[in-house]
Amino acid sequence: MPQLKIAPHNIAVLLSGGGTNLQSIIDNIKLGNINGKIEVVISNKKDAYGLERAKLNNIDAVYVNAKNYENINEFNDKIIEELTKRNIDLVVLAGYLKILSPQFIKTFNNRIINIHPSLIPSFCGKGYYGIKVHEEAIKYGVKVSGATVHFVDENADTGPIIFQDVVFIDDNDTAESLQKKVLQIEHKILPQAVKLFCDGKIQITDRKVTVKE
Ligand code: GRF
Repeated sequence: MPQLKIAPHNIAVLLSGGGTNLQSIIDNIKLGNINGKIEVVISNKKDAYGLERAKLNNIDAVYVNAKNYENINEFNDKIIEELTKRNIDLVVLAGYLKILSPQFIKTFNNRIINIHPSLIPSFCGKGYYGIKVHEEAIKYGVKVSGATVHFVDENADTGPIIFQDVVFIDDNDTAESLQKKVLQIEHKILPQAVKLFCDGKIQITDRKVTVKE
């Protein structure tokens, strides 16, 4: 029987920084590993290098300045507009440091994924972003850390977990060296999650995610 072909998914990536995770998705699409296309990269930071990466790869790069909007809901509405006009199926938060509005989460229910640089539920939630996450892990003295890809719900870092992977922390690790180690695994599990989503293989039951064979 001929295989049923699933149409390529339209992906949007939202970011606020350098975009190495965006790059990992771009690279995997180029390798043919992901049945999807990045239609747009959106940033709330004008100078985010992730926007440059998008342009270098002929992807629409959109900067949305929160200062031009009355409040966070209106700012989010503008982003929703950019996404819906491009028929986005999957929104990837890759180092995006803005709060999503309830309307955003409702519009893309179970279609928003985030990458967080720790093993959720440790070192996550409000205030845990960037190097801060790794500083806290080192300070606490944990012996392993890692990265988590999860669906986004209405609270910070609480949505259903898709993948986690671990790194070991050595006595001489610093927040910076831990960040580097963790980024390496982020660049594996994020594209893998995007791939499975685009293949229609991710299933959520209550808050438990399973991968269909
Ligand atoms: C990553 O550590 C990611 O887990 C976190 O923000 C960082 C973004 O890094 N959410 P980059 O911009 O993809 O290099």
